[in-house]
Amino acid sequence: MASLSFFKLALLTPLLLLVLASSTSSVAQLARLQPKIGCQTQCGDVKVDYPFGIGKRCGRSEHFQLLCKRNDRGRFKPFIRGNKLDDLEVSSISVTEGLARIKNPVSSLCYNRTNGYVTFEFAEADLTQTPFWVSNTRNMFIVIGSNVFAYISLNGTKSGYTAGCVAQKLSKESMVKSSCSGIGCCEATIPIRSKLYFMLIDGSFSNVSSFNTCGHAVLTEVDRFRFSTSYLTTPGSFEKDIVNLSVVLDWTIGNEKCELAHVMVS
Ligand SMILES: *[C@@H]1O[C@H](CO)[C@@H](O)[C@H](O)[C@H]1NC(C)=O
Ligand SMILES: *[C@@H]1O[C@H](CO)[C@@H](O)[C@H](O)[C@H]1NC(C)=O
Ligand SMILES: *[C@@H]1O[C@H](CO)[C@@H](O)[C@H](O)[C@H]1NC(C)=O
Ligand SMILES: *[C@@H]1O[C@H](CO)[C@@H](O)[C@H](O)[C@H]1NC(C)=O
Repeated sequence: MASLSFFKLALLTPLLLLVLASSTSSVAQLARLQPKIGCQTQCGDVKVDYPFGIGKRCGRSEHFQLLCKRNDRGRFKPFIRGNKLDDLEVSSISVTEGLARIKNPVSSLCYNRTNGYVTFEFAEADLTQTPFWVSNTRNMFIVIGSNVFAYISLNGTKSGYTAGCVAQKLSKESMVKSSCSGIGCCEATIPIRSKLYFMLIDGSFSNVSSFNTCGHAVLTEVDRFRFSTSYLTTPGSFEKDIVNLSVVLDWTIGNEKCELAHVMVS
């Protein structure tokens, strides 16, 4: 897992290890695209417009095919096929904006005061067989906890693109703050647009056993995220809010280089 030198680097919080010029998504020649006859254009409450499609032959190609199935709360939602990993639940897709939003995989480390066990969950996503990319301009890596170090690795472990930060110990005095300032919550910009990521809380450098019983790490749409100190003081509070947060994906059609300016509505 993370080396000590990485941890020292991470103490320069919030940290950004590498910055590359961000690439914009290209939605090529949408005017040319024609939806296919007889295809489902809605899954649950989510509209699925061409070039995306539900089921065989409905998308522009196999890569644009989405699944329509029940989520863990029993509601029908479109899913992006997760390749070898979990399928990713889509909360919206916009063809005009060239964006999609998916439910956040969350990484967590929790200490159970009753039995003393630490439970650990890491989160990952694979978009390599899809037209989607994780946007590096609209998402931030966010860590919530008191003495919690977490990091995200992008584009495969070999490529070396990593970002991380330490959410420092929350004290009674710092409790008034409700911004993500490094105390109880830290954020890091992600270095590249990517199709692959995994994130985890480093147990050997985190201490969840005292004030707070859980640490969490998410990649999320920065404009919609608001830190609340209740995330540290009220068990389950973060989990409740995270339900409505998303990771923003942008998407590209094939390898076509033609970049059509798309409207970014915020
Ligand atoms: C903590 O451990 C106790 C005893 O094993 C168990 O009953 C309880 O469900 C655990 N709590 C959580 C949140 O997992
Ligand atoms: C991401 O990984 C792929 C495959 O390993 C590589 O071809 C590509 O150059 C990497 N992207 C960046 C920005 O390094
Ligand atoms: C974790 O925090 C508790 C309470 O503040 C402290 O007693 C313990 O020594 C800490 N553990 C580590 C490994 O820092
Ligand atoms: C999440 O969004 C749904 C639908 O917009 C809303 O009913 C619910 O209250 C929201 N939950 C939280 C925790 O904000």
